[in-house]
Amino acid sequence: MEEVRIGVLVSGGGTNLQALMDACMEGEIHGRVVLVISNRDDAYALERAADMGIRGQFVSPRDYRGEDYDRELIRLLREEKVQLVVLAGYLRVLTPLFIDEYRDRIINIHPSLIPAFCGKGFHGERVHRAVLESGVKQTGATVHLVDEGTDTGPILLQETVSVLEDDTVESLQKRVLKLEHRILVKAVGEMCLELGNENIGGNHEASID
Ligand code: GRF
Repeated sequence: MEEVRIGVLVSGGGTNLQALMDACMEGEIHGRVVLVISNRDDAYALERAADMGIRGQFVSPRDYRGEDYDRELIRLLREEKVQLVVLAGYLRVLTPLFIDEYRDRIINIHPSLIPAFCGKGFHGERVHRAVLESGVKQTGATVHLVDEGTDTGPILLQETVSVLEDDTVESLQKRVLKLEHRILVKAVGEMCLELGNENIGGNHEASID
């Protein structure tokens, strides 16, 4: 079974990306990260990719209008024959054009228990601040497929962590992030097995032609 070719979209620090690259290296995931694309040139995730010898590409939002940005992403992903796209802290909304191109092959990680604390405006620290302010005793992380909505696609995996009495935004974020790394690796691993099996069935790269 061939390794699934994975493309990762990022905007920031890239700890989820790192978890994925490590898991691929260690053979935990039957896939390989072949391309990392960032919409920010200062994303540390790009350095992480370079350190692992993986192609990292900054695509400037200033250089493209409307759907043309995603058209460029698709071009790059096709160039690397990417079969599965992972959004790992990618802070741009994908256009329907992109979602159609990789339908059911785009995975996102979100730092809460969807459908709670998600949707427009809920990203980064804001999620954890809202969790603390609400007084809920449990939060968590969710891996889901991406559709045209914001955090609305089918859920693949979800796990919880307790919110502690003395939690701060930082401590909670740190605990959830650890969980994100674990479930993202697990979900991508499962997806790669599925896609690998489809390929054996003769559907190789069906989605990108
Ligand atoms: C994570 O909390 C992820 O869920 C969210 O953005 C954060 C990115 O962290 N979408 P990192 O860049 O993977 O370290």
